[in-house]
Amino acid sequence: MTFDIVTIFPAMVEAALAAGVVGRAIGRGTLAVTVHDLRGFTADRHHVVDDVPYGGGPGMVMKPEPWFRALDSIAAARPGRCHVVLTSPQGRPFTQAMAGELSRHEHLVLVCGRYEGIDERVRTRIDEEVSIGDYVLSGGELPALVMVDAVARLIPGVVGDEQSVIDESFSRGLLDFPHYTRPATLTAPARPGEDAGRESDTDAALTVPAVLLSGNHAAIRRWRKREAIARTLRRRPELLAAAALDDEEREILRELVAQGSKGVEDGRH
Ligand code: ADE
Repeated sequence: MTFDIVTIFPAMVEAALAAGVVGRAIGRGTLAVTVHDLRGFTADRHHVVDDVPYGGGPGMVMKPEPWFRALDSIAAARPGRCHVVLTSPQGRPFTQAMAGELSRHEHLVLVCGRYEGIDERVRTRIDEEVSIGDYVLSGGELPALVMVDAVARLIPGVVGDEQSVIDESFSRGLLDFPHYTRPATLTAPARPGEDAGRESDTDAALTVPAVLLSGNHAAIRRWRKREAIARTLRRRPELLAAAALDDEEREILRELVAQGSKGVEDGRH
């Protein structure tokens, strides 16, 4: 899959892309990401990309011509259908389902806005406008990086263990179950003001649930399902209406609702 990202802060975007799973996928050639400096598509000596708004008011607006030139140049360099996404707080909220939709495009172009906004006429070249949340950032670079990361994970070969992508939060509309690694027990240092010898809720929270040490894979699988559903019920109950639950999970949900029970977060192992 190919991404083109257009920004006035190419160094910021490139630095983030070099790290972790995405950086390795780029290194292997599983992903191709090109970062374009919008200033390279200006025609004036000072590489100006913004101007005052018609009608007056505070702030600056990104000029249309550099964007048109940048998008034309990207289209010319990569023939074939590309999907152009503008990051903006006015866009459709980004979700895991949207990451899945975007991952089916061969070629994504991410347009990172700045200042008060982009000249409205640039929208004639935009296929989709996406927001990463109901808050305002100073530019579209972080949203573009969020999208590249979430989309790239869904491309076969990007994440080493594909099962972890299938299991993780939101892939089936559920939050993730709790994870543990060694050691099986931790000794909690007494908190300031706490009696060091006292048995506290922390002791239970610092012990790995016994089922995970049992070697009983069927029991572990069921425990994980139960914990994922309990956590979703507790933290994000609205997700359950759209979650793709199997028969066993629906049964677990009925039990949890009947018991008012919430899993390890309530100290129940
Ligand atoms: N640009 C500024 N804020 C944004 C947001 N919340 N999502 C996407 N792009 C943005």
